[in-house]
Amino acid sequence: PASPLDIRPVTGRIGAEIRGVQLSGDLDGATVQAIEAALVRHKVIFFRGQTHLDDAEHEAFAGLFGDPVAHPTVPVAEGSRYLLELDSKEGYAASSWHTDVTFVDAYPKGSILRSITAPEAGGDTVWANTETAYEGLPEPLRQLANNLWAVHTNDYDYAAQFGLKRDTSDPEAAQQKRAEFQKAVFASTVYETEHPVVRVHPVSGQRSLLLGHFVRNFVGLNKADSAKLYDVLQEHITKPENVVRWRWEPGDVAFWDNRATQHRAVADFALQRRTLRRATVNGDVPVSIDG
Ligand code: SIN
Repeated sequence: PASPLDIRPVTGRIGAEIRGVQLSGDLDGATVQAIEAALVRHKVIFFRGQTHLDDAEHEAFAGLFGDPVAHPTVPVAEGSRYLLELDSKEGYAASSWHTDVTFVDAYPKGSILRSITAPEAGGDTVWANTETAYEGLPEPLRQLANNLWAVHTNDYDYAAQFGLKRDTSDPEAAQQKRAEFQKAVFASTVYETEHPVVRVHPVSGQRSLLLGHFVRNFVGLNKADSAKLYDVLQEHITKPENVVRWRWEPGDVAFWDNRATQHRAVADFALQRRTLRRATVNGDVPVSIDG
């Protein structure tokens, strides 16, 4: 049936803007179903002008799609129950390709990111469609991927990037913040799990490539071979044909299917402030093509 939503695809393969919906925890069942269907189809959906959303309403909206879950290692954003804050003031941008929290067995099925402060220019986010990436692989590479598993760990987590970040206007405060943050994160558990490199989507049955920056190595391959093969596959995933780029305005919300995408921030906004908050919704353990 036709969707009741006003859906405008942004590219040929990934991303759609949905107009005319005011997000909240009170949406009716038909709207929620239509949003979920659009999510599975377009992989990332965008809603502009949601400036009315506060943390509680953001969490309530996320709760319509499953159980909202806090990040397993990063402290929850002040004043919220589950949200992760991404604040450039603390020298932060998640600027390498990843799927959220793949270092746990049942990683989130979706993430909902809301822009609070956006740079005048720059600081876009890009998402890649990992299903069209799989379909586009040459047959021998697809065969190889079908039989591979990868080790994912938060040994390389958001916090690990902190030492590498840009200067800020207050380097001393930033340094202090970094030290506190690293202490909190590194004192926490190191997670490690294995996932199939090709996962089957629980709703659509489509196959996709499951990789991203939490991958340490492929099962049975050493670090050097793993790194080369990882680059080959990642290059296919992040081809411009598989990617959508979103230019943020405060009040924009992006909701992505974390089972069929990778994403990263574009760290080109120098000292401008960029603040977003993210809710994640609980997912299931990825199923390989062998079931
Ligand atoms: C994220 O990795 O969830 C955030 C991406 C971004 O800051 O654009």
